[in-house]
Amino acid sequence: MLKGRHFKTLQDYSTEEITHLLDLSIELKKRMKAKEKYRPMEGYSMAMIFQKRSTRTRVSTETGISYLGGHALFLGKDDIQLGKNETLKDTALVLSRFNDLILARVFDHSDIEELAEHSSSPVINALSDKFHPLQILADFMAIKEHFGRLGGLTIAWVGDGNNVLHSIMAAAPKMGMNLRIATPTGYEPMQDVTDRCKEDAEKHGTQLVLTTDPKEAVRGANVIVTDTWVSMGQDDEKERRLRDFAGYQVTMGLAEEASDDWIFMHCLPRKQNEVDDEVFYSDRSIVFDEAENRMYTVMAVALALLGLDNS
Ligand code: CP
Ligand code: NVA
Repeated sequence: MLKGRHFKTLQDYSTEEITHLLDLSIELKKRMKAKEKYRPMEGYSMAMIFQKRSTRTRVSTETGISYLGGHALFLGKDDIQLGKNETLKDTALVLSRFNDLILARVFDHSDIEELAEHSSSPVINALSDKFHPLQILADFMAIKEHFGRLGGLTIAWVGDGNNVLHSIMAAAPKMGMNLRIATPTGYEPMQDVTDRCKEDAEKHGTQLVLTTDPKEAVRGANVIVTDTWVSMGQDDEKERRLRDFAGYQVTMGLAEEASDDWIFMHCLPRKQNEVDDEVFYSDRSIVFDEAENRMYTVMAVALALLGLDNS
């Protein structure tokens, strides 16, 4: 049902489509754990453009696609002509002649839009400054594995109004989840993302709270999520950001406000600023399950966009 579609943001995906990708990811996890030989991507190739660093996204994709029998080609920022001698448009036109899928990690989200416009193969957003949809599929899979459901749960975000938060906002209401968001003044999520999230929350009857008070956000939450205060490309703002986020560190003290069954999540890489070791390495933390699930979810997305999900 998703054959030929791009995967730019979860805003473009319905409740049923996200559920399908999560179910497929869970099935793939079972197959991989059983060491089943499953090679639907034999004869298929994916180009992976990385304009920024990556551990999880790069390794989970390269490994996952090889388990499926396909080929994933890593193209770092100094490996191809892009950005120096060639435009994004021409890169998209050429790479999609060779490859069945293009996955890209970029700075500006408009680069994902441009790639998608000119590529004859589906484009997968592997992180832009606005969205990180693959991460949120893995996160929702980990939440579903932990609680057995998504609907009715409350997510609290404590931190920056960044790409990871935007992707949670794009998907949570559709999955029946409430959102309580605390960001410092000046670090709120983008207005257009908030507007869409509000519409979705009304449509699906879920709660959306925006505050500057971490305690208020965490109150009654089942899931506490944060991310780095200094995203890739923001290094020159580091000093100011560390100052502006004072009081936003996730600690056991802050979590006292949460529901008794609270868990902690973080997409990684993590710094101690936003969460202390006591929470990060505690039994409440499912951060390494999230990381593991990055592989099954990107495998599911690749199969679905290629129309290989029923094989
Ligand atoms: N969470 C995530 O995308 O990690 P990487 O930057 O290591 O890919
Ligand atoms: N917000 C972070 C996520 C890293 C996976 C960044 O964009 O750097």
